[in-house]
Amino acid sequence: MIRSSRNPIPTFVHASRVECERALADEIAECIARSPRSVFGWATGSTPIGLYRELASRHGAGRLSFARASCFNLDEYLDLPAGHPHSFAAWMDEHLFSHVDFVRENTHLPDVHAPDPVRAARSYESAISRAGGIELQVLGLGRNGHIGFNEPGSTCETRTRIVELAESTRLDAAHTFGSLDDVPRRAITMGVATILAARRIRVLAFGRAKAAVVHALLHDAVSSECPATFLREHPAVELHVDVEAAG
Ligand code: GLP
Repeated sequence: MIRSSRNPIPTFVHASRVECERALADEIAECIARSPRSVFGWATGSTPIGLYRELASRHGAGRLSFARASCFNLDEYLDLPAGHPHSFAAWMDEHLFSHVDFVRENTHLPDVHAPDPVRAARSYESAISRAGGIELQVLGLGRNGHIGFNEPGSTCETRTRIVELAESTRLDAAHTFGSLDDVPRRAITMGVATILAARRIRVLAFGRAKAAVVHALLHDAVSSECPATFLREHPAVELHVDVEAAG
């Protein structure tokens, strides 16, 4: 692993995804060792899959317990029926929750099935505050520079709210849903300000397809055109990439 301090965000280039996932799993384990009630922020998508596999394997080996921890996911699609296999709730069950020992009530995703989703988005903010705020937020990057579902145009003051998904985001999701028409048009996402309120943020990016957005994150002007650039204003953010995403 090579650490570069020349970038505006401390950047770690790992020889492989696995090396990166182990390093981050170590940090998560240290959080829990120091404070078993730690609050984590989780992302979905292909990027964090290996990290969750590593956490599940450490739990399986009796080396890691989330029994007193809690967590909040970044976002969830609106307008899907409850239990939809491509909801982020189902995704989290499949990739993490069913393999580790979180108490179910301590795992949170935006309540997209609430009778009043606008209110549900607001309550998500208060639930995060009541839990004491997020200690460590795991974050992926959308190819258009989105974080969570904060699409280009999202300002740094945004909080958890209902958003319209960008066309490029829906196109990226089309292969999962089978067709573009089946991809939801709206979601509830933590806002940029919600994400920046986490005490530590660990951004992951793997593969050649992420090289352009990694470059934008580090070198474009900080602006809502590329919401990921707002991460540069966070005091404790790190970027972890593999050689391909480092470009
Ligand atoms: C989705 C999620 C983001 C995620 C991004 C990248 O749109 N809302 O939280 O970081 O896509 O996904 P992937 O990791 O599959 O490239």
